[in-house]
Amino acid sequence: MSLAVIGDDDGRLSPSGQWMPTLSEGARAPHAPGTSGRYAYAMVAYRYLGNSGLKITELTLGNWVTAGGQVGRERAIDVVHAALDAGITTFDTADTYMNGAAESILGDALTGRRRASLEIFTKVYFPTGPKGANDTGLSRKHILESIDGSLSRLKTDYVDLYQAHRFDYETPLDETMQAFADVVRQGKALYVGVSEWTADQLRAGHALADDLGIQLISNQPQYSALWRVIEGEVIPTSRELGISQIVWSPLAQGVLTGKYAPGAPVPEGSRATDQKGGGGTFIRRFLHDDILAAVQRLRPIADEVGVSMAQLGLAWILHNDAIAAALIGASRPEQVAENVAASDVHLDDATVDAINQILGPVAVTDPAETSTVSPKARLV
Ligand SMILES: NC(=O)c1ccc[n+]([C@@H]2O[C@H](COP(=O)([O-])OP(=O)(O)OC[C@H]3O[C@@H](n4cnc5c(N)ncnc54)[C@H](OP(=O)(O)O)[C@@H]3O)[C@@H](O)[C@H]2O)c1
Repeated sequence: MSLAVIGDDDGRLSPSGQWMPTLSEGARAPHAPGTSGRYAYAMVAYRYLGNSGLKITELTLGNWVTAGGQVGRERAIDVVHAALDAGITTFDTADTYMNGAAESILGDALTGRRRASLEIFTKVYFPTGPKGANDTGLSRKHILESIDGSLSRLKTDYVDLYQAHRFDYETPLDETMQAFADVVRQGKALYVGVSEWTADQLRAGHALADDLGIQLISNQPQYSALWRVIEGEVIPTSRELGISQIVWSPLAQGVLTGKYAPGAPVPEGSRATDQKGGGGTFIRRFLHDDILAAVQRLRPIADEVGVSMAQLGLAWILHNDAIAAALIGASRPEQVAENVAASDVHLDDATVDAINQILGPVAVTDPAETSTVSPKARLV
């Protein structure tokens, strides 16, 4: 199987103009059908997104609860620049994050960078601004209005990936997919993805996308060594359909870094203390002593591999070739610098098994935990 090369055989320029030499041939892996493939460069490796030709950095930066929330505009921009400097070229946001502010900040941070060297993802479903009757969901009206708002805040003519942030039980799926197809045909998005869809929903959406001649190539679920609900159904179905996972909260919102100790107060300035972005509420699910104690038992494994706990948690994700990217968050640039090193950490199966053994009793695996927010039927 042949490998395409971005740049030339010796390396490529990062969007911030740094030369990134290619690693040895042995560091590259071929793209087998149903896997995300992998291109390894000196900084962050690339993987294919689904069965498409689009390559994204296997560590992708997101700005949920941070940009414009827990973290002010300047720090949020520094975090994006740290990511660019480290070789990340793929960025994820959503219209609803901090009511549009997160998209605006990302747009500002990327202004002046070469657009073709970036992959920019956003999402539609949740409202921005007032929660009017048509400000939510995946109706044609909401999708076609939302994409224009996102593009204007992101200061770009197109996004690389436009994602349905949740499944919408109120809108007929063919209306949704037709609207996405129109967004693609208008050139406002290149590819389509979804987030937190079940295996059956992925199958139905993929079939309609196929009929319409557009590419539904990704799902964005929560996934970490503590939250494994996609393994039973979503991943096998996605492999069959040629859909990759771009996984959110790969460090369980910071819990897998080991900085939350059982029985101890949460660290000052950490997400657990965030009220403005809402992070302090979302992380609560993981802040239980049995979970925190199990996480502490991973330390000897991290020490033996010679990596930090954060790098171990991300390397655990990247060991799975159904995953195209771990979608990392960061409240400060140093976290990005530390976390990108995970792209160069390759865990063997025995190490992955050892991590799974330790976290097994506290990890969530039930596919029914896939996140849904829409009412399960039309309201009338
Ligand atoms: N599709 C969806 O429904 C959905 C939902 C949620 C998120 N997402 C996406 O996923 C992205 C990432 O989610 P996430 O932010 O929860 O991911 P995460 O990587 O699990 O958590 C990131 C947080 O962990 C802490 N952290 C990270 N690296 C660290 C390090 N080396 N040392 C110490 N602390 C560290 C930081 O928080 P503190 O420093 O503040 O403690 C950081 O903000 C979001 O930005 C968004 O794009 C999508």
